[in-house]
Amino acid sequence: MTDSASRRTFIAATGMAAAHVWVPGTARGYSAAEMRAMEETIGVSKWELDTPALCVDLDALESNITTMQARLAAKGLGARPHAKTHKSADIARKQLAAGALGICTSKVSEAEALLAAGIDRICMTTTNPSPSKIRRAMALRAKSAHFIQAVDEEKNARDLSDAAKAAGLTADVVIDVAVGTRSGIPAGAGAIALAELVSRLPNLRLRGMLSYDGGAQHLTGFATRRTTALANLEANVRVYETLKAKGLSTEIFSGGGTGTYNIQHEVPGFTDVQVGSYLFMDMQYLAIGNAAGGPVYDDFARSLTVLATVLNNRFPGRLTTDAGAKALTLNVPRAGVVGEPGMDYNAGSDEFGVITFSEARKAYAIGDKLELVAPHCDPVVNLYDQIYGIRKDRVEVVWPVTARGKSQ
Ligand SMILES: Cc1ncc(COP(=O)(O)O)c(C=O)c1O
Repeated sequence: MTDSASRRTFIAATGMAAAHVWVPGTARGYSAAEMRAMEETIGVSKWELDTPALCVDLDALESNITTMQARLAAKGLGARPHAKTHKSADIARKQLAAGALGICTSKVSEAEALLAAGIDRICMTTTNPSPSKIRRAMALRAKSAHFIQAVDEEKNARDLSDAAKAAGLTADVVIDVAVGTRSGIPAGAGAIALAELVSRLPNLRLRGMLSYDGGAQHLTGFATRRTTALANLEANVRVYETLKAKGLSTEIFSGGGTGTYNIQHEVPGFTDVQVGSYLFMDMQYLAIGNAAGGPVYDDFARSLTVLATVLNNRFPGRLTTDAGAKALTLNVPRAGVVGEPGMDYNAGSDEFGVITFSEARKAYAIGDKLELVAPHCDPVVNLYDQIYGIRKDRVEVVWPVTARGKSQ
């Protein structure tokens, strides 16, 4: 099978090929500022938006939140969704309202932005190694009794305890126990010693452990994903059991994501899953396959799209759009073009997307709009000031991306 034939087959299986594409003859073109400022923008067709525009289908988003919450609860697990994906206080509020135990953040600046916007019960899954970040984390803890942060080395634990003492508080921490080699303390005697130290330090309170397996989330095929994820966590489970036997806190045993949400309940002691991408879905996740053996991961609905405009149609079999790397970040896997399975979308150039095709549903004019599915949702959201919440193709709400650019 050729590459373009297999892409067409895959896109057709995602349901993207069958999507309805309506392209207005003339589009008014509201700027982002106008969209936020003007009351009348609420209710306009999404096709009227100036582009590139980040849109989320609210029916799909809400159904993903409800579905995830219900499926985890049915297996006795909680949801602690990761805000690294959406960076939005409004979406975090929906997740908490649906029953999430709390919200995760990667960076202290994300936590600051979300707490300032009213999101409480934040667990920072990355460590804070520098004195200034430790001070900022303590300032967050001073504002929120529910703020928890990760620690993965003894020096950092001592520094956190000293800073907590200086701030006049007791800080809540979880030890980050590695799965793979990205982050965290290796699962073994060192991790147990760290938990013991945290429990002894006067100004820290141990709340449990994190174990996120980034390597397993995107493995293709449910059986492979399950076998690998469970094997990867065996040593972490031994750490969990030792902490428990020693009477140390195991109140939290958290990790996992969209790819392993339906596997984590098989891990003894696991309490909650840090799901992120399930809200939106993207080309990376769509390709991992479902538990029934199908090629498309369809447990959650595809809700996030980037709208783009055709800038050039003068060359046969090619279109140029206004959505390149600065609108989509990654070029591999390729962005999907909704309704056009025969199109290959190259976002390799900064400002421009280049589409090549041998067949298309219609002849595209300059100014026509196309709807794209992002290669990977998290970094794309970080490029936009706002997300347009769309229902039945009309703008219902405009959400600021609260923690946009908060990468420190
Ligand atoms: C620590 C941590 N937890 C959870 C997630 C969410 O994963 P996903 O988007 O696959 O659901 C991530 C994503 O990278 C992560 O780094």
